[in-house]
Amino acid sequence: MITETLKGQDFLSLADLTGQQVAELLQLAADMKAGKVNLRCNKILGLLFYKASTRTRVSFTVAMYQLGGQVLDLNPNVTQVSRGEPIIDTARVLDRYLDVLAIRTFAQEDLQTFANYAKIPVINALTDLAHPCQALADLLTIQECFGDLKNLTVTYVGDGNNVANSLMLGCAMMGVNVRVATPSNFEQSAEIIEKAKAYANGKSEVTITNDPIAAATGAHALYTDVWASMGQEEEANSRIPIFQPYQLNEKLLSVADKNAIVLHCLPAHRGEEITDEAIEGSHSRVWDQAENRMHVQKALLASILGAE
Ligand code: CP
Ligand code: NVA
Repeated sequence: MITETLKGQDFLSLADLTGQQVAELLQLAADMKAGKVNLRCNKILGLLFYKASTRTRVSFTVAMYQLGGQVLDLNPNVTQVSRGEPIIDTARVLDRYLDVLAIRTFAQEDLQTFANYAKIPVINALTDLAHPCQALADLLTIQECFGDLKNLTVTYVGDGNNVANSLMLGCAMMGVNVRVATPSNFEQSAEIIEKAKAYANGKSEVTITNDPIAAATGAHALYTDVWASMGQEEEANSRIPIFQPYQLNEKLLSVADKNAIVLHCLPAHRGEEITDEAIEGSHSRVWDQAENRMHVQKALLASILGAE
């Protein structure tokens, strides 16, 4: 049972889970979504977000309420965090009050420091490196759309960022072929690519390219994210011409599988990384994808907290 094997664990990266655990989490999320499983736990979740968030903040909050727990929003601007209290001190203090802590921050190292100093489970709610909760929702959405995760190809076009990293690892772990097309100099790190290839281990393909059309050809899902992430706002305008060929639009959809779905983690910049037609069109599953954040995070919280 996933609620036994994950109890008390941190979730800092998809690499903290095995493929088997991801499969069990997705099943639990699907069962909870369908109302077949109803788990409860009277615990307290803290949200410590150094960056803006709509989906992650609200979906974690609602998921915790639905489990019977409570949520504290630890806005860095009104705590001592923004006045420079060391992470190693904040982590040990929050550990004494909370049952689980979800953090959205910049450096993965800072998240790791929180996890090292807090004994309670720490969840990655997005860092510059990874967005593993998003990838769980992406996989659940793909599984719902196609029945299972077998014989599928997912193509990501755009910036080789946190969302691309977690999607690539998640697909590789679950035997889904994954292609990532970025402009040159915006590729993911060699370390992440190697990790994904190790997970795929001959069971599926991991393709890195600068050619968006080749990447999209025959794909079952086309996925994109913003061209400049939070913290990169100053580069946003200069990136537009570089990333234009990587826009998720009708041209890209025309070479994909005829039943291909369109995904985006949101928030989207329409007219930049995705067109209105693509996000509003009949192939789009972005609203289901956003809803699924709540279901996978409820399953994750229930498992980490040992809900019954
Ligand atoms: N996809 C996602 O994480 O959205 P938010 O930034 O609104 O949380
Ligand atoms: N790559 C984006 C994702 C937002 C959910 C960012 O980090 O800003």
